[in-house]
Amino acid sequence: EAAEKGGYEHFMLKEIHEQPKAIKDTFRGRIVDGCDIVLDDLKITKEQLANIDKIFIVACGTAYHAGIVGKYTIEKFARIPVEVDIASEFRYRNPIINERTLTIVISQSGETADTIAALKEAKSHASRVIAITNVVGSTVSREADDVIYTWAGPEIAVASTKAYTTQLVAIYLIALDLALKKGTITREYAAEICEGLKALPEKIQNFLDNKDEIQKFASEHYNTRDVFYLGRGLDYAVAMEGSLKLKEISYIHSEAYAAGELKHGTLALIEDGTLTIAIATQENLFEKMLSNIREVTTRGGYVLAFVMEGNTQLEGVVGKVIYLPETLEEIAPIMAVVPLQLLAYYMAVDKGCDVDKPRNLAKSVTVE
Ligand code: G6P
Repeated sequence: EAAEKGGYEHFMLKEIHEQPKAIKDTFRGRIVDGCDIVLDDLKITKEQLANIDKIFIVACGTAYHAGIVGKYTIEKFARIPVEVDIASEFRYRNPIINERTLTIVISQSGETADTIAALKEAKSHASRVIAITNVVGSTVSREADDVIYTWAGPEIAVASTKAYTTQLVAIYLIALDLALKKGTITREYAAEICEGLKALPEKIQNFLDNKDEIQKFASEHYNTRDVFYLGRGLDYAVAMEGSLKLKEISYIHSEAYAAGELKHGTLALIEDGTLTIAIATQENLFEKMLSNIREVTTRGGYVLAFVMEGNTQLEGVVGKVIYLPETLEEIAPIMAVVPLQLLAYYMAVDKGCDVDKPRNLAKSVTVE
């Protein structure tokens, strides 16, 4: 097993470090001539797409969080309404689906029972189904009409890391493809996003090479009882995934909140020293985040903020600022989740938890 871990203490740490390669492998060959998206398996034509008036994204766990990024991105790029649903909810609520609905299921393993059932439910109502999965030949890949593989390689740790970031890459590629087919974005804009995606592996690598700051922060805070994660827009999706990572492997209670919701409840839980993690990568939402951060600090909460390099506005305002390599804000979730994975990892290690095999959890839930 030590050999399989490639010198890393845990599979999770190894898989976090494999992300630059996994991301590259997932977009490789799929972006040509600057912005043409070549998804051989996404056979939906312009004419078929013109008939689609709604998209469902259905998944469980981490894959569901990738779906939330999908909603923001597909709606922004392709201007098609997107509803994201948890597979176990979707399958039992008689969702409104017909031949004008496109369903995207996301599943690392391709074997999650609820996701398979949701896929079948969508198909039985004449919806075309696109699957994003990491396992070639998995049930989900066989049942779907179109399959987009993530090329993350085997993921062993129960807590998903490289599968999530490659699911995001797949989502961005699909969103670009749909938007270019619909003509809702320009080729120049698509090329800019593609350039941004191509630049990510190196930026993530740079961040990983300087991860000591996160490790140190974890060593100072792993005894905390509760952590709140805040973000707006895409950062809210990242907050949800960061919170899940922390709670599943460190057993520290954590919650993610859309930052604007704070004052409608969670603020009551902020006490002196309560650790709050603020993700603020979105420029148009920054001022709003700043005022939410102040809501926490004025009540004595301790804020760790993640912002893009060059944005120094939080210096002196929060307890600690960690800078992310500058990334296009549309694709910032792929960058911003990496420190949150590391933070969860180091906190869990410091607490002495079984990081790769957290109690009560399974890598793939194939029964209901
Ligand atoms: C389990 C795993 C999670 C995963 C979820 C969905 O609960 O512990 O890490 O996100 O299943 O798995 P899937 O294989 O469908 O992506």
